[in-house]
Amino acid sequence: MRALFQQHVCLIVTGGIAAYKAPDLVRRLRDLGAEVKVVMTPAATEFVRPLTFQAVSGTPVHQDLLDPAAEAAMGHIELARWADLILVAPASADFIARLASGFADDLASTVCLATAAPILLAPAMNHLMWRNAATQANFKTLTQRGVRAIGPNDGEQACGEVGPGRMAEVSEIVIAATQRFSTRELAGVRVLVTAGPTQEPIDPVRFITNRSSGKMGYAVASAAQGAGAHVTLITGPTQLGVPTGVISIRVTTAADMLSAVMSNVSDADIFIATAAVADYTVEQPASHKMKKATTPPALTLSPTVDILRRVASQPKPPFTVGFAAETQDLLANARGKLLAKNLDMVAANLVGNPGLGFDSDENELHIVWQGGEKQLGRASKDALARDLIVIIAERYRAARVDLV
Ligand code: CTP
Repeated sequence: MRALFQQHVCLIVTGGIAAYKAPDLVRRLRDLGAEVKVVMTPAATEFVRPLTFQAVSGTPVHQDLLDPAAEAAMGHIELARWADLILVAPASADFIARLASGFADDLASTVCLATAAPILLAPAMNHLMWRNAATQANFKTLTQRGVRAIGPNDGEQACGEVGPGRMAEVSEIVIAATQRFSTRELAGVRVLVTAGPTQEPIDPVRFITNRSSGKMGYAVASAAQGAGAHVTLITGPTQLGVPTGVISIRVTTAADMLSAVMSNVSDADIFIATAAVADYTVEQPASHKMKKATTPPALTLSPTVDILRRVASQPKPPFTVGFAAETQDLLANARGKLLAKNLDMVAANLVGNPGLGFDSDENELHIVWQGGEKQLGRASKDALARDLIVIIAERYRAARVDLV
């Protein structure tokens, strides 16, 4: 869900009219969980005021190479080391030339020279400047050195002319930035994830549900996508946005979730069941709103199908991971479910602790599989999901080797 969670992005803004789009870029990167520090060249400050970037990034803007106060807080070398990604947007023709020549006479160029982090450029300039042989040669030098670029796009320019030189759209830059962070543990692997609660209707306006927010499942889907997987997310009703690049199928009841899973599972290499599926459904929901009566109505419940068990008991099941929410005997119960449902892995967590598990942002997981286990200590659901995906990828690969 938050593809840039805790990633450090140093955004360098150079002088160009497209600088006006950079505050929106900062906001979008932060929405995805990134910490953003902004460096501005003197020319950039002619287009957008540093205060704007300070407001959207939540931290002072870095401008001067030799400002003693700024150096005391975080010098150019620390900034270069802090960054997991250096993003230059917009990258002017002048800055591209200076970068290609290895200049270090201002903060922005020095940070680029002193960093081991990948550098991503979003060039923006007049189309003739972009096509100029000098710019093309500088750009080629940089790309040959491993600097990546997104855009420029073709189209109408601020100067009124038409051609290549428009800065890539903010959404395109964000996607390119997230791709710089993606790992490849699950490259090309097809992953099916269930998430969220289900709702079992009592009548047209009432239903039975649970406290699941879907956060863990969405984080798992996002982490799998970040690891290069093709992810389909089958989700009960939640308030969450679907992670970028993930296909989602929305369902309401346990029966809907079952049929969506069964129609998609034959295409899946890995199935991860994080959903809090209702164990019981109302046998005959009323077709009209039930009226208040003098005697309380009796609800007859019937069991739902255990989707996880159904998937794991197929003749050729995918690598199947279940979740277990327990209030006691965590490990014993998790191992019990691993065997009883014939799963490849169970991720168990203790529920009932304040601030952990259901509906909270943090969790703690104990992961068990045949012949092994691993504990993932208290952390955000995004961080846990990434660690979980690494373990799933390892076990998935080991299981495939065993099959050969
Ligand atoms: N699950 C499922 N379909 C159901 C019920 C559960 O796919 N109808 C999956 C959940 O997505 C989760 C695991 O089974 O991966 C959770 O099982 P859990 O509810 O902890 O335990 P149960 O097997 O239902 O046993 P108990 O409630 O007795 O702990």
